[in-house]
Amino acid sequence: MTELPRFTLKETEIDAIAGAGGRIVVLVPESGQLDVAARRVNRLAKGALKRFVESEAFAKLEEGEAKDLAWPAGLEAEAVQVVRLSRRPSLEDARRAGAAIGKAAGEGPVLVLAGGAKRVDAVLLGAMLGAYDYVEMTSKAPKPQPEITVMVNKPDEIDGAVVQAMAEGVAFTRDLVNAPANVLTTTSFADRLKALEGDGLTVEVLEEDELEKLGMGCLLGVGIGSESPSKVVVMQWNGGGDEPPLALVGKGVVFDTGGISLKPAGGMEDMTMDMGGAGVVSGVMQLMKARKAKANVVGLVGLVENMPDGRAQRPGDIVKSMKGDTVEVINTDAEGRLVLADVMWYAQERFKPAAMVDFATLTGAIIVALGHDNAGVFSNDDSFAGAFLKAAAAEGEGAWRMPLGKSYAKLLKSRKADVKNVGTRWGGSITAAEFLRRFVKDETPWIHLDIAGVAQPAEAPALGPKGASGWGVLALNRLIADGYEG
Ligand code: BES
Ligand code: MN
Ligand code: ZN
Repeated sequence: MTELPRFTLKETEIDAIAGAGGRIVVLVPESGQLDVAARRVNRLAKGALKRFVESEAFAKLEEGEAKDLAWPAGLEAEAVQVVRLSRRPSLEDARRAGAAIGKAAGEGPVLVLAGGAKRVDAVLLGAMLGAYDYVEMTSKAPKPQPEITVMVNKPDEIDGAVVQAMAEGVAFTRDLVNAPANVLTTTSFADRLKALEGDGLTVEVLEEDELEKLGMGCLLGVGIGSESPSKVVVMQWNGGGDEPPLALVGKGVVFDTGGISLKPAGGMEDMTMDMGGAGVVSGVMQLMKARKAKANVVGLVGLVENMPDGRAQRPGDIVKSMKGDTVEVINTDAEGRLVLADVMWYAQERFKPAAMVDFATLTGAIIVALGHDNAGVFSNDDSFAGAFLKAAAAEGEGAWRMPLGKSYAKLLKSRKADVKNVGTRWGGSITAAEFLRRFVKDETPWIHLDIAGVAQPAEAPALGPKGASGWGVLALNRLIADGYEG
């Protein structure tokens, strides 16, 4: 896994500032008021900090933004990074400030002087995620990460272990989504999940023969053109009592060529991220284990590769789902819904979940509708959807409710089978969601998250470099913490 910075939290030692090597970070509110530690930095640097804070350059900084004072006289440090942040920042600003710290950090030590500021845990999480850099496939891997020391007035009030768990959960998802398809095959993906097993997390890998016995004809049809065997991985975390679990289901298409309905060449390399839904589910499960969540959560991912081949599924083929419905495959590129249909049905049959959330890079249409800043939220249950939207907003992860409806479902009528896998060009993300809804039992509160636009946005996400965002891990973590624990 990509290495993240190590950190320690300790009480402020003013006298350690002068001799600290590497980078020193001070947090300064808009008013420019310096706290005790910042005043010491200023005095040692012969007034340089105060001059900066009174300058036009500081006035131009937005909340959460930062600027370096390089090679300050009077200090061992090579830079003083001045971060504009109020003493009581919003969660988002605190994380953004942290990301500025993490992005600027090199390999050397970083001393963050946070004093009595609130939300230092959010600053720290931002720093960890901001320092994330996917170098696994370069010859410079593994990249040494800095040691971050955070000095605060009350270190005991900060739960460093939870920060660590959250950062590692997001980084695990990002690593999976960033990985190329020759490295992250269905088999190596399953192996990475198997390696998570232990300390109360169980991981089962269902192979093709078992999936056949279960009747997962929709899922298996997608994978038959590939040399990589299709798999379903089931992860169980039982941190609660005997209440039914929350089920998380992820689309794990390790590469989507479109199959016989082949995609155009331009941009096809982006389809390495078509396992993004499975990536989020995996990150959440790792996070449940790492922070020993007091909830019952099962995570299921359908791992397949969609390839054109002599044996590949053809347009017009009719396959049978585990539920029993037959599906006419009009377009082999609408494969994610075929995978999810069977895994969602299996999740409900086996676990009788209290609720179910599926994650999928399902449609280009959701990117047309919402761009890269919001995932599409589809649900059969207003209060469940409301709880999710609230959790996502609190975590700064964009999410926007989309409609469902019978008139969309009608577009999926097939002449030959129970249903076909595509509707018309219009409302493509909604017909996709309606297809999934067929495989949701009436009694299951369900949310479908179309994350095609947010899993790997066109621009760098707020808390990290360009590439995989890890969108959804923190929202789900909060949804679980707020709704399923204690
Ligand atoms: N994996 C794609 C959706 C996608 C597109 C994800 C762009 C991320 C970025 C999905 O399997 C797909 O190909 N969907 C088709 C559906 C169509 C054939 C009905 C699409 O969106 O074009
Ligand atoms: Mn596709
Ligand atoms: Zn796909």
